[in-house]
Amino acid sequence: MATLHLKQIRKTYKNAAIETLKGIDIQIESGEFLILVGPSGCGKSTLMNTIAGLEDINAGAIEIDGVDVSQVAPKDRDIAMVFQSYALYPNMTVAGNIAFGLKIRKVPKAEIDAEVKRVAEMLQIEPLLNRKPAQLSGGQRQRVAMGRALARRPKLYLFDEPLSNLDAKLRVDMRHQIKRLHQQLNTTIVYVTHDQIEAMTLADRIAVMKDGELQQLGTPKEIYNQPENMFVAGFMGSPSMNFIRGTVTLDVQNRPILEVQDAAGKILPLPLPERMKDMLHQDIVMGLRPEHISDHLENGTPLFTTHALTMEVLEPTGPDIIGMIKVNDEDVACRLSPTFEGRAGEAATLYFDISKAVYFDAETEKRLDD
Ligand SMILES: Nc1ncnc2c1ncn2[C@@H]1O[C@H](COP(=O)(O)OP(=O)(O)OP(=O)(O)O)[C@@H](O)[C@H]1O
Ligand SMILES: [Mg+2]
Repeated sequence: MATLHLKQIRKTYKNAAIETLKGIDIQIESGEFLILVGPSGCGKSTLMNTIAGLEDINAGAIEIDGVDVSQVAPKDRDIAMVFQSYALYPNMTVAGNIAFGLKIRKVPKAEIDAEVKRVAEMLQIEPLLNRKPAQLSGGQRQRVAMGRALARRPKLYLFDEPLSNLDAKLRVDMRHQIKRLHQQLNTTIVYVTHDQIEAMTLADRIAVMKDGELQQLGTPKEIYNQPENMFVAGFMGSPSMNFIRGTVTLDVQNRPILEVQDAAGKILPLPLPERMKDMLHQDIVMGLRPEHISDHLENGTPLFTTHALTMEVLEPTGPDIIGMIKVNDEDVACRLSPTFEGRAGEAATLYFDISKAVYFDAETEKRLDD
């Protein structure tokens, strides 16, 4: 267990036109599971490689347990890393690969054997222990790479998309295993993933990056329910949050509303919270997740009922149906119950749980305070 403090990390690759990391500041607590997410190319692997010591930083500091390790050699940082492009020792068996880090540390053989067995069991690769990497599938190799890291007890684990090559079911199994492992060992983990569910279920906190900058750092709930800007709001969640644009106006009773149009050009007066009167005549964006637009009522929540709206597309997913309507000519996704009987092209009455909406300034794209 260790704390990891990233202080204003800056990184520009040689001959690169732009800075890849533009001052990343994250304080990771001892035993914390931090998940790093962001679009491809935003700098996640670069950040991981700088923590591991495989890439130099141009400015800032990396502190492990309060000690600046930015100039310490990778092997002396006591970090186990699983790379996005995992490389195994080709001439060693699976068992040899997993045991390697322990052998170097001169751990007694019986202890190594027990550890290899434990890790192999957890990763469901026991039958493969005597094979060489070339005799494995991509997903199996990835699990061996994971095993190699897990057989050690470093101060810090770095996982860069460790489950990306696994099939859906195995991926879920591994996710549970990783969660269990973290609960048992309580180690500090930094973990990169493109998988939303992985991020939401594993993380103590999620760091959302874009273009080498941190957009938001918070618990999964905070990231999901109180995104600081439209980028974060649109990035987490699938289907992503709907953005409904409009100008704040008042209805005949002097209450703030957002007047938007349905596919037929009919006005839909979405009610706004009282505080939106401060934004009268200004352009805002209402962010509403698909699960907050539905065909059925939730008990006790203040809902806004629409006139019937045309369902343009219906996509049954199993547990629910994703429906698409048009608002102001833009697609808006809603999550319907699996028993919804309407068909594409037909109109249906929908309930908007406006109390769950978040609001953004249309220009700055930042969330307006609650
Ligand atoms: N060795 C390098 N030299 C120059 N530029 C690099 C190097 N490695 C990465 N980059 C660039 O730095 C940026 C960040 O790359 P990085 O691999 O950190 O992205 P990432 O967030 O991990 O993306 P992905 O999700 O696709 O893995 C990219 O624009 C990439 O092209
Ligand atoms: Mg990467």
